[in-house]
Amino acid sequence: MPFTVIVGCQWGDEGKGKIVDLLASGFDWVARFQGGANAGHTIRLKGGPIVLHQIPTGILHSTCKCALGNGMVLDPVLLRQEVVELEEAGIEWRGRLFISHAAHIVTPIQKALEQARGIVSGIGTTGRGIGPTYEQKVARKGLRAIDLSDHERTIGILEQQWREAESICGGEEALRAIGSPKEVANEIFAAWEMFSEYVCDASDLLLSAHARGERILCEGAQGALLDIDAGTYPFVTSSTTLSAGAASGLGIPPTVIDEVIGVVKAYTTRVGAGPFPTEFDEEFASLFRARAGEFGATTGRPRRCGWFDAPMVQRACKVNGATGIVVTKLDVLSGLERVAMATGRDDLDTLPRSVRTSVYALERTRPRYEWFEGWSEEITRASSFDELPKPARRYLEAIEEHVGASVGLVSVGPEREQVVGR
Ligand code: IMP
Repeated sequence: MPFTVIVGCQWGDEGKGKIVDLLASGFDWVARFQGGANAGHTIRLKGGPIVLHQIPTGILHSTCKCALGNGMVLDPVLLRQEVVELEEAGIEWRGRLFISHAAHIVTPIQKALEQARGIVSGIGTTGRGIGPTYEQKVARKGLRAIDLSDHERTIGILEQQWREAESICGGEEALRAIGSPKEVANEIFAAWEMFSEYVCDASDLLLSAHARGERILCEGAQGALLDIDAGTYPFVTSSTTLSAGAASGLGIPPTVIDEVIGVVKAYTTRVGAGPFPTEFDEEFASLFRARAGEFGATTGRPRRCGWFDAPMVQRACKVNGATGIVVTKLDVLSGLERVAMATGRDDLDTLPRSVRTSVYALERTRPRYEWFEGWSEEITRASSFDELPKPARRYLEAIEEHVGASVGLVSVGPEREQVVGR
Protein backbone atom coordinates (compact mmCIF):
# COMPACT_ATOMS: atom_id res chain seq x y z
CA MET A 1 0.00 0.00 0.00
CA PRO A 2 1.39 3.42 -0.86
CA PHE A 3 3.47 5.32 1.64
CA THR A 4 3.89 8.62 -0.16
CA VAL A 5 5.76 11.76 0.86
CA ILE A 6 4.92 15.22 -0.53
CA VAL A 7 7.57 17.89 -0.17
CA GLY A 8 8.25 21.40 -1.42
CA CYS A 9 11.25 21.75 -3.74
CA GLN A 10 11.70 25.54 -3.49
CA TRP A 11 11.45 27.98 -0.57
CA GLY A 12 8.03 26.85 0.65
CA ASP A 13 4.56 28.04 -0.36
CA GLU A 14 4.64 25.80 -3.44
CA GLY A 15 0.98 24.87 -2.97
CA LYS A 16 1.52 21.54 -1.19
CA GLY A 17 -1.68 22.05 0.83
CA LYS A 18 -3.81 22.08 -2.30
CA ILE A 19 -2.13 18.96 -3.69
CA VAL A 20 -2.48 17.12 -0.36
CA ASP A 21 -6.16 18.15 -0.31
CA LEU A 22 -6.54 16.84 -3.86
CA LEU A 23 -4.86 13.50 -3.17
CA ALA A 24 -6.12 12.94 0.39
CA SER A 25 -9.32 11.15 -0.67
CA GLY A 26 -7.10 8.34 -1.97
CA PHE A 27 -5.38 7.91 1.40
CA ASP A 28 -6.42 6.67 4.85
CA TRP A 29 -3.92 8.87 6.69
CA VAL A 30 -2.23 12.22 6.20
CA ALA A 31 0.71 12.77 8.55
CA ARG A 32 2.84 15.85 9.12
CA PHE A 33 6.44 15.31 10.16
CA GLN A 34 8.11 18.68 10.85
CA GLY A 35 7.61 22.38 11.47
CA GLY A 36 4.57 23.85 13.16
CA ALA A 37 2.44 26.95 12.87
CA ASN A 38 5.03 28.59 10.59
CA ALA A 39 3.21 26.85 7.72
CA GLY A 40 -0.22 27.91 6.51
CA HIS A 41 -2.76 26.86 3.95
CA THR A 42 -6.02 28.67 3.21
CA ILE A 43 -8.99 26.51 2.31
CA ARG A 44 -12.13 27.99 0.82
CA LEU A 45 -15.17 26.32 2.32
CA LYS A 46 -18.82 27.19 1.75
CA GLY A 47 -19.04 29.13 5.03
CA GLY A 48 -15.88 31.12 4.25
CA PRO A 49 -12.14 30.50 4.22
CA ILE A 50 -10.25 28.82 7.05
CA VAL A 51 -6.48 28.69 7.48
CA LEU A 52 -4.82 25.53 8.74
CA HIS A 53 -1.31 25.89 10.13
CA GLN A 54 -0.60 22.63 11.91
CA ILE A 55 -3.39 20.25 10.94
CA PRO A 56 -3.07 18.66 7.48
CA THR A 57 -5.78 19.39 4.93
CA GLY A 58 -6.59 15.65 5.05
CA ILE A 59 -8.87 16.53 7.98
CA LEU A 60 -11.38 17.92 5.44
CA HIS A 61 -11.93 14.41 4.07
CA SER A 62 -14.14 12.41 6.40
CA THR A 63 -12.51 9.08 5.50
CA CYS A 64 -9.04 10.36 6.31
CA LYS A 65 -7.26 10.40 9.69
CA CYS A 66 -4.43 12.79 10.50
CA ALA A 67 -1.27 12.39 12.57
CA LEU A 68 1.03 15.10 13.90
CA GLY A 69 4.46 13.50 14.19
CA ASN A 70 7.25 13.68 16.74
CA GLY A 71 9.25 15.94 14.41
CA MET A 72 6.72 18.74 14.81
CA VAL A 73 6.68 21.67 17.23
CA LEU A 74 3.08 22.33 18.24
CA ASP A 75 1.48 25.48 19.54
CA PRO A 76 -1.47 24.33 21.72
CA VAL A 77 -3.26 27.70 21.69
CA LEU A 78 -3.14 27.95 17.89
CA LEU A 79 -4.04 24.27 17.56
CA ARG A 80 -7.19 24.87 19.61
CA GLN A 81 -8.00 27.82 17.35
CA GLU A 82 -7.68 25.58 14.29
CA VAL A 83 -10.04 22.90 15.60
CA VAL A 84 -12.56 25.53 16.71
CA GLU A 85 -12.57 26.82 13.11
CA LEU A 86 -13.03 23.26 11.86
CA GLU A 87 -15.92 22.71 14.25
CA GLU A 88 -17.55 25.95 13.12
CA ALA A 89 -17.30 24.66 9.56
CA GLY A 90 -19.02 21.44 10.65
CA ILE A 91 -15.92 19.25 10.40
CA GLU A 92 -15.60 16.58 13.10
CA TRP A 93 -11.95 16.19 14.10
CA ARG A 94 -12.35 14.15 17.31
CA GLY A 95 -11.11 10.62 16.87
CA ARG A 96 -9.50 11.62 13.55
CA LEU A 97 -6.55 13.68 14.77
CA PHE A 98 -3.70 11.98 16.65
CA ILE A 99 -0.66 13.61 18.19
CA SER A 100 2.73 12.05 18.86
CA HIS A 101 3.63 12.07 22.55
CA ALA A 102 7.15 13.06 21.49
CA ALA A 103 6.12 16.20 19.57
CA HIS A 104 7.57 19.33 21.17
CA ILE A 105 5.46 22.18 22.49
CA VAL A 106 5.93 25.81 21.50
CA THR A 107 5.44 28.01 24.55
CA PRO A 108 4.79 31.76 24.74
CA ILE A 109 8.25 32.01 26.32
CA GLN A 110 9.90 30.77 23.13
CA LYS A 111 7.81 33.16 21.05
CA ALA A 112 8.79 36.11 23.25
CA LEU A 113 12.41 35.02 23.01
CA GLU A 114 12.21 34.89 19.23
CA GLN A 115 10.60 38.31 19.09
CA ALA A 116 13.32 39.78 21.29
CA ARG A 117 16.03 38.20 19.15
CA GLY A 118 14.30 38.49 15.78
CA ILE A 119 15.39 42.05 15.23
CA VAL A 120 19.03 41.03 15.56
CA SER A 121 18.91 37.76 13.63
CA GLY A 122 17.70 39.37 10.37
CA ILE A 123 16.43 36.01 9.09
CA GLY A 124 12.87 37.25 8.90
CA THR A 125 11.27 34.28 10.67
CA THR A 126 7.52 33.83 10.96
CA GLY A 127 7.73 34.73 14.68
CA ARG A 128 5.94 31.51 15.69
CA GLY A 129 8.65 30.39 18.13
CA ILE A 130 9.81 27.61 15.81
CA GLY A 131 13.60 28.13 16.03
CA PRO A 132 13.78 28.59 19.83
CA THR A 133 11.57 25.49 20.36
CA TYR A 134 13.82 23.30 18.19
CA GLU A 135 16.82 24.78 20.07
CA GLN A 136 15.28 23.59 23.34
CA LYS A 137 14.64 20.17 21.81
CA VAL A 138 18.23 19.73 20.66
CA ALA A 139 19.54 21.06 23.98
CA ARG A 140 17.41 18.33 25.65
CA LYS A 141 15.44 20.86 27.67
CA GLY A 142 12.22 20.96 25.66
CA LEU A 143 8.63 20.48 26.72
CA ARG A 144 6.97 17.53 24.97
CA ALA A 145 3.34 16.54 24.51
CA ILE A 146 3.81 13.67 26.96
CA ASP A 147 4.99 16.09 29.67
CA LEU A 148 1.68 17.96 29.62
CA SER A 149 -0.04 15.12 31.50
CA ASP A 150 2.32 15.81 34.42
CA HIS A 151 1.57 19.35 35.64
CA GLU A 152 4.47 19.61 38.07
CA ARG A 153 6.97 18.48 35.49
CA THR A 154 5.59 20.95 32.95
CA ILE A 155 5.82 23.86 35.39
CA GLY A 156 9.41 22.84 36.22
CA ILE A 157 10.38 22.88 32.53
CA LEU A 158 8.64 26.23 32.00
CA GLU A 159 10.41 27.75 35.01
CA GLN A 160 13.74 26.73 33.57
CA GLN A 161 12.79 28.13 30.13
CA TRP A 162 11.61 31.37 31.75
CA ARG A 163 14.88 31.84 33.70
CA GLU A 164 16.93 31.21 30.57
CA ALA A 165 14.83 33.58 28.45
CA GLU A 166 15.09 36.25 31.14
CA SER A 167 18.86 36.00 31.19
CA ILE A 168 18.90 36.45 27.39
CA CYS A 169 16.22 39.15 27.10
CA GLY A 170 16.94 40.98 30.36
CA GLY A 171 13.90 42.99 31.44
CA GLU A 172 12.32 42.61 28.00
CA GLU A 173 8.67 43.78 27.94
CA ALA A 174 7.62 40.89 25.72
CA LEU A 175 8.63 38.36 28.38
CA ARG A 176 6.97 40.24 31.26
CA ALA A 177 3.73 40.51 29.28
CA ILE A 178 3.26 36.75 29.02
CA GLY A 179 3.02 36.23 32.79
CA SER A 180 4.71 33.87 35.24
CA PRO A 181 5.64 30.27 34.35
CA LYS A 182 2.56 29.07 36.28
CA GLU A 183 0.30 31.39 34.30
CA VAL A 184 1.91 30.20 31.07
CA ALA A 185 1.37 26.59 32.16
CA ASN A 186 -2.31 27.22 32.90
CA GLU A 187 -2.82 28.74 29.47
CA ILE A 188 -1.20 25.69 27.85
CA PHE A 189 -3.13 23.18 30.01
CA ALA A 190 -6.43 24.90 29.17
CA ALA A 191 -5.72 24.76 25.43
CA TRP A 192 -4.39 21.19 25.57
CA GLU A 193 -7.32 19.69 27.48
CA MET A 194 -9.25 18.84 24.33
CA PHE A 195 -6.25 17.08 22.75
CA SER A 196 -4.92 15.03 25.65
CA GLU A 197 -6.92 11.89 24.84
CA TYR A 198 -5.48 11.86 21.31
CA VAL A 199 -1.83 11.86 22.39
CA CYS A 200 -0.31 8.54 21.32
CA ASP A 201 2.69 6.71 19.94
CA ALA A 202 2.20 8.04 16.41
CA SER A 203 5.05 5.92 15.09
CA ASP A 204 3.33 2.72 16.22
CA LEU A 205 -0.04 4.01 15.03
CA LEU A 206 1.23 4.64 11.50
CA LEU A 207 3.29 1.46 11.25
CA SER A 208 0.34 -0.64 12.44
CA ALA A 209 -1.92 1.12 9.94
CA HIS A 210 0.62 0.41 7.19
CA ALA A 211 0.80 -3.24 8.23
CA ARG A 212 -3.00 -3.43 7.90
CA GLY A 213 -2.68 -2.17 4.33
CA GLU A 214 -3.80 1.41 4.94
CA ARG A 215 -2.51 4.15 2.63
CA ILE A 216 -0.39 6.90 4.15
CA LEU A 217 0.45 10.33 2.78
CA CYS A 218 3.15 12.35 4.57
CA GLU A 219 2.99 16.10 4.18
CA GLY A 220 6.14 18.20 4.46
CA ALA A 221 5.99 21.89 5.33
CA GLN A 222 8.23 24.66 3.95
CA GLY A 223 10.62 23.52 1.17
CA ALA A 224 14.00 21.98 0.40
CA LEU A 225 15.77 25.34 0.19
CA LEU A 226 14.61 26.11 3.74
CA ASP A 227 15.97 22.78 5.03
CA ILE A 228 18.31 23.16 8.00
CA ASP A 229 21.05 21.17 6.21
CA ALA A 230 20.38 21.33 2.46
CA GLY A 231 18.93 24.85 2.34
CA THR A 232 20.36 28.34 2.03
CA TYR A 233 21.76 28.30 5.58
CA PRO A 234 21.47 30.34 7.79
CA PHE A 235 18.35 31.70 6.03
CA VAL A 236 16.43 28.50 6.64
CA THR A 237 13.91 27.04 9.04
CA SER A 238 15.02 24.82 11.93
CA SER A 239 13.87 21.39 10.77
CA THR A 240 14.47 18.76 8.12
CA THR A 241 12.07 19.67 5.35
CA LEU A 242 13.38 16.95 3.01
CA SER A 243 11.64 13.61 2.45
CA ALA A 244 14.26 12.05 4.76
CA GLY A 245 12.66 14.05 7.58
CA ALA A 246 9.47 12.01 7.18
CA ALA A 247 11.27 8.96 8.56
CA SER A 248 12.72 10.57 11.68
CA GLY A 249 9.80 12.98 12.13
CA LEU A 250 7.18 10.21 12.14
CA GLY A 251 9.27 7.40 13.61
CA ILE A 252 9.08 5.18 10.54
CA PRO A 253 11.87 3.38 8.66
CA PRO A 254 12.84 5.10 5.38
CA THR A 255 12.38 1.76 3.60
CA VAL A 256 8.57 1.97 3.88
CA ILE A 257 8.47 5.11 1.72
CA ASP A 258 7.80 4.16 -1.88
CA GLU A 259 6.98 7.46 -3.54
CA VAL A 260 8.22 11.06 -3.15
CA ILE A 261 6.32 13.84 -4.91
CA GLY A 262 8.07 17.21 -5.21
CA VAL A 263 5.85 20.27 -5.54
CA VAL A 264 7.14 23.35 -7.37
CA LYS A 265 5.62 26.62 -8.46
CA ALA A 266 5.94 27.53 -12.16
CA TYR A 267 8.10 30.43 -10.91
CA THR A 268 9.80 31.07 -7.56
CA THR A 269 8.85 32.86 -4.35
CA ARG A 270 10.56 33.35 -1.04
CA VAL A 271 9.47 34.97 2.23
CA GLY A 272 12.02 36.36 4.63
CA ALA A 273 15.64 37.23 4.04
CA GLY A 274 18.37 35.32 2.23
CA PRO A 275 19.78 34.80 -1.25
CA PHE A 276 17.39 34.57 -4.20
CA PRO A 277 19.36 34.48 -7.46
CA THR A 278 16.42 34.75 -9.90
CA GLU A 279 14.52 37.46 -8.02
CA PHE A 280 12.64 40.07 -10.08
CA ASP A 281 13.45 43.75 -9.74
CA GLU A 282 11.03 45.48 -7.36
CA GLU A 283 9.00 47.20 -10.10
CA PHE A 284 8.14 43.95 -11.89
CA ALA A 285 7.88 42.07 -8.56
CA SER A 286 5.14 44.32 -7.22
CA LEU A 287 3.05 43.95 -10.40
CA PHE A 288 3.62 40.20 -10.46
CA ARG A 289 2.93 39.77 -6.72
CA ALA A 290 -0.40 41.54 -6.99
CA ARG A 291 -1.65 39.40 -9.90
CA ALA A 292 -0.30 36.21 -8.35
CA GLY A 293 -1.64 36.97 -4.86
CA GLU A 294 1.76 36.28 -3.36
CA PHE A 295 1.23 37.23 0.29
CA GLY A 296 2.03 34.86 3.16
CA ALA A 297 -0.88 32.79 4.57
CA THR A 298 0.74 32.88 8.03
CA THR A 299 2.16 36.38 8.34
CA GLY A 300 0.54 38.22 5.41
CA ARG A 301 4.02 39.38 4.36
CA PRO A 302 4.53 40.14 0.66
CA ARG A 303 6.47 37.27 -0.91
CA ARG A 304 9.56 37.97 -2.97
CA CYS A 305 9.05 36.71 -6.55
CA GLY A 306 11.35 35.56 -9.35
CA TRP A 307 11.80 33.24 -12.32
CA PHE A 308 11.88 29.46 -12.04
CA ASP A 309 15.35 28.30 -11.06
CA ALA A 310 15.87 24.88 -12.66
CA PRO A 311 19.33 24.05 -11.20
CA MET A 312 18.03 24.83 -7.67
CA VAL A 313 14.96 22.65 -8.19
CA GLN A 314 17.05 19.92 -9.81
CA ARG A 315 19.19 19.76 -6.68
CA ALA A 316 16.11 19.82 -4.44
CA CYS A 317 14.56 16.92 -6.37
CA LYS A 318 17.80 14.95 -6.21
CA VAL A 319 18.23 15.25 -2.44
CA ASN A 320 14.56 14.48 -1.92
CA GLY A 321 14.64 11.49 -4.25
CA ALA A 322 11.56 12.91 -5.99
CA THR A 323 9.88 10.28 -8.15
CA GLY A 324 7.80 12.93 -9.89
CA ILE A 325 6.86 16.60 -9.67
CA VAL A 326 3.70 18.67 -9.55
CA VAL A 327 3.83 22.18 -11.03
CA THR A 328 1.50 24.74 -9.45
CA LYS A 329 0.27 28.21 -10.40
CA LEU A 330 1.04 27.87 -14.10
CA ASP A 331 -2.00 30.12 -14.76
CA VAL A 332 -0.16 33.05 -13.15
CA LEU A 333 2.27 33.13 -16.11
CA SER A 334 -0.54 33.51 -18.69
CA GLY A 335 -0.44 36.86 -20.45
CA LEU A 336 3.31 37.38 -20.21
CA GLU A 337 4.93 37.98 -23.58
CA ARG A 338 8.03 35.96 -22.61
CA VAL A 339 8.84 33.72 -19.67
CA ALA A 340 12.36 33.12 -18.39
CA MET A 341 13.85 30.14 -16.61
CA ALA A 342 17.33 29.85 -15.10
CA THR A 343 18.76 26.74 -16.72
CA GLY A 344 22.40 27.03 -15.65
CA ARG A 345 24.95 29.17 -13.85
CA ASP A 346 27.72 31.37 -15.23
CA ASP A 347 31.16 31.34 -13.62
CA LEU A 348 30.68 28.05 -11.77
CA ASP A 349 34.33 27.23 -12.56
CA THR A 350 35.50 30.21 -10.48
CA LEU A 351 34.41 28.29 -7.36
CA PRO A 352 36.29 25.45 -5.68
CA ARG A 353 35.35 22.09 -7.22
CA SER A 354 34.24 20.82 -3.81
CA VAL A 355 31.24 23.16 -3.68
CA ARG A 356 30.19 23.42 -7.35
CA THR A 357 27.22 21.06 -7.00
CA SER A 358 25.92 22.64 -3.81
CA VAL A 359 23.32 25.28 -3.03
CA TYR A 360 26.25 27.42 -1.86
CA ALA A 361 27.52 27.52 -5.46
CA LEU A 362 24.10 28.28 -6.92
CA GLU A 363 23.80 31.28 -4.62
CA ARG A 364 27.20 32.68 -5.54
CA THR A 365 27.03 32.50 -9.32
CA ARG A 366 24.92 34.35 -11.87
CA PRO A 367 21.87 32.51 -13.25
CA ARG A 368 21.95 31.84 -17.00
CA TYR A 369 18.48 32.38 -18.44
CA GLU A 370 16.64 30.74 -21.28
CA TRP A 371 13.62 32.65 -22.60
CA PHE A 372 10.40 31.00 -23.69
CA GLU A 373 7.51 32.25 -25.78
CA GLY A 374 4.61 33.25 -23.51
CA TRP A 375 0.91 32.50 -24.00
CA SER A 376 -2.00 34.91 -23.85
CA GLU A 377 -4.81 32.36 -23.36
CA GLU A 378 -6.48 31.83 -19.97
CA ILE A 379 -5.69 28.29 -18.89
CA THR A 380 -7.79 28.11 -15.74
CA ARG A 381 -10.44 25.97 -17.47
CA ALA A 382 -8.07 23.49 -19.09
CA SER A 383 -8.99 19.94 -18.18
CA SER A 384 -6.13 18.08 -19.82
CA PHE A 385 -2.49 18.65 -20.67
CA ASP A 386 -3.36 18.72 -24.36
CA GLU A 387 -5.73 21.65 -23.80
CA LEU A 388 -2.85 23.84 -22.60
CA PRO A 389 -1.47 26.28 -25.21
CA LYS A 390 1.59 24.94 -27.03
CA PRO A 391 4.04 27.45 -25.43
CA ALA A 392 2.80 26.44 -21.95
CA ARG A 393 3.39 22.77 -22.77
CA ARG A 394 6.83 23.64 -24.11
CA TYR A 395 7.60 25.47 -20.84
CA LEU A 396 6.57 22.41 -18.79
CA GLU A 397 8.70 20.16 -20.99
CA ALA A 398 11.66 22.48 -20.37
CA ILE A 399 11.08 22.12 -16.62
CA GLU A 400 11.20 18.34 -17.02
CA GLU A 401 14.35 18.49 -19.17
CA HIS A 402 16.27 20.78 -16.84
CA VAL A 403 15.06 19.35 -13.56
CA GLY A 404 15.30 15.73 -14.64
CA ALA A 405 11.92 14.64 -13.24
CA SER A 406 8.59 14.13 -14.93
CA VAL A 407 5.61 16.39 -14.33
CA GLY A 408 2.56 14.37 -13.27
CA LEU A 409 0.08 17.12 -12.40
CA VAL A 410 -0.23 20.80 -13.21
CA SER A 411 -2.32 23.18 -11.15
CA VAL A 412 -4.00 25.90 -13.22
CA GLY A 413 -6.06 27.72 -10.57
CA PRO A 414 -6.81 27.83 -6.85
CA GLU A 415 -9.81 25.45 -6.86
CA ARG A 416 -9.46 21.74 -6.13
CA GLU A 417 -10.66 20.78 -9.61
CA GLN A 418 -8.32 23.19 -11.42
CA VAL A 419 -5.64 20.58 -11.99
CA VAL A 420 -4.63 18.80 -15.18
CA GLY A 421 -3.03 15.38 -15.24
CA ARG A 422 -0.44 14.20 -17.69
P1 IMP B 1 10.84 30.09 10.89
O1 IMP B 1 10.48 28.77 10.30
O2 IMP B 1 9.67 30.84 11.42
O3 IMP B 1 11.96 29.95 11.89
O4 IMP B 1 11.43 31.02 9.71
C1 IMP B 1 12.66 30.73 9.07
C2 IMP B 1 12.58 31.09 7.58
O5 IMP B 1 11.70 30.17 6.93
C3 IMP B 1 12.04 32.48 7.29
O6 IMP B 1 12.67 32.99 6.12
C4 IMP B 1 10.57 32.22 6.99
O7 IMP B 1 9.99 33.22 6.17
C5 IMP B 1 10.67 30.89 6.27
N1 IMP B 1 9.44 30.08 6.38
C6 IMP B 1 9.02 29.37 7.46
N2 IMP B 1 7.87 28.74 7.19
C7 IMP B 1 7.56 29.04 5.92
C8 IMP B 1 6.48 28.65 5.06
O8 IMP B 1 5.57 27.90 5.40
N3 IMP B 1 6.51 29.18 3.79
C9 IMP B 1 7.53 29.99 3.37
N4 IMP B 1 8.54 30.37 4.12
C10 IMP B 1 8.56 29.90 5.40
